[in-house]
Amino acid sequence: MKRDQWLCATGPVLCVVGARPNFMKMAPILRALAAHEPALPALLVHTGQHYDIDMSDRLFAGLGLPRPDINLEVGSGSHAVQTAEVMRRFEPVLDANRPSCVVVVGDVNSTLACTLVAAKKGVPVAHVEAGLRSFDRSMPEEINRVLTDQIADLLYTTERVAHENLTREGIDASRAQFVGNVMIDSLLANRALGIPPEETLRRGGIEPPEPDIGQGYGVVTLHRPSNVDQEETLGPLLAALRDVSERLPLLFALHPRTRANIERFGLREFVTGKTIALLPPQGYLEMLGLMSGARLVLTDSGGIQEETTALGVPCLTLRENTERPITVQEGTNTLVGRDRGAILRLVDEILSGGGKRGRVPELWDGRAAERIVAHLADWLALRHARAEA
Ligand code: UD1
Repeated sequence: MKRDQWLCATGPVLCVVGARPNFMKMAPILRALAAHEPALPALLVHTGQHYDIDMSDRLFAGLGLPRPDINLEVGSGSHAVQTAEVMRRFEPVLDANRPSCVVVVGDVNSTLACTLVAAKKGVPVAHVEAGLRSFDRSMPEEINRVLTDQIADLLYTTERVAHENLTREGIDASRAQFVGNVMIDSLLANRALGIPPEETLRRGGIEPPEPDIGQGYGVVTLHRPSNVDQEETLGPLLAALRDVSERLPLLFALHPRTRANIERFGLREFVTGKTIALLPPQGYLEMLGLMSGARLVLTDSGGIQEETTALGVPCLTLRENTERPITVQEGTNTLVGRDRGAILRLVDEILSGGGKRGRVPELWDGRAAERIVAHLADWLALRHARAEA
């Protein structure tokens, strides 16, 4: 069979998403699969790791993602239970659909779980956003990254340091391709559609009193277990945020885990007042609008470090390490940790001087998904030709 005929007739590319940060990475890949000549058949599988309207449905809508073809509806659980449940429910999907390959993105439990199932069944796996390392094994995501990269067949990377990390772990360089950043593909495609912050506040979901953001505002997100699961860490962090909010009104988009812990530890007083607004988890276009207009962003998210770098907005990362060092070396990101004095000093620097300028890293140009799909199609065709020979 000719290459193009085979690519059209072969089993679908099975695209897996599970949690919020996966959705913006998969949207451009699905578009690129459809736009490829010939179009590659694709199926979208949602593991259901994130399931709230705010954590899942609104993001699907904002990104123009199609409804998932299959939803495994695994929901929440301990790491072991969640990972095992994804594996158990994903296996029959592989058996029933006989995909040509599985594409996984990022570093969440669903990424590792589906990779493990596919690899053991001999189905090729492509990992998008491979090779990133925080070198902190207390992060569940780091374990997911290291293990996924060991057993995936194709490793698509966002920055060059990823290749050094993979080589150090004994991974053959030929498996890795530097393609750029699919999350930035989504950002560039949607930037003009970002919803103005005033509208997001007006549309509600904001618990009064509303802050006055006329003179500027900062955006906050926090959800890492290491920051929000213990009262001794979450309390001081919220106290630091309260101090920051005396200098600049803050809009705090609350992850369900963080909201629950604020209530559980009785820390609500730190985040109540006219200068700090608690928002529900935001849709993609709302978040883009909020970040684009912000004077600074305080976060412990991985993706937001990259998005602020692409937008040229100063970012203070409330962590001791980052798996995305290019955002610090070339972008607008600064690792500040949790120290209240350090946070306030850097906020003051940004407010008086505008903060780090930064530049957009190599190949963060909106075309990463196109490069991935072009490479994947060639790789699949070559594999097929070898199998037939
Ligand atoms: C997961 C990812 C993390 C990613 C984050 C983005 C792993 C190991 N972690 O962490 O890398 O940065 O998503 O949000 O995969 N919950 C809801 N509704 C939902 C989903 C979760 O209320 O739709 C609550 C549940 O109480 C749940 C908790 O949030 O127990 C944590 O959810 P979980 O998926 O376990 O991890 P995240 O902290 O969201």
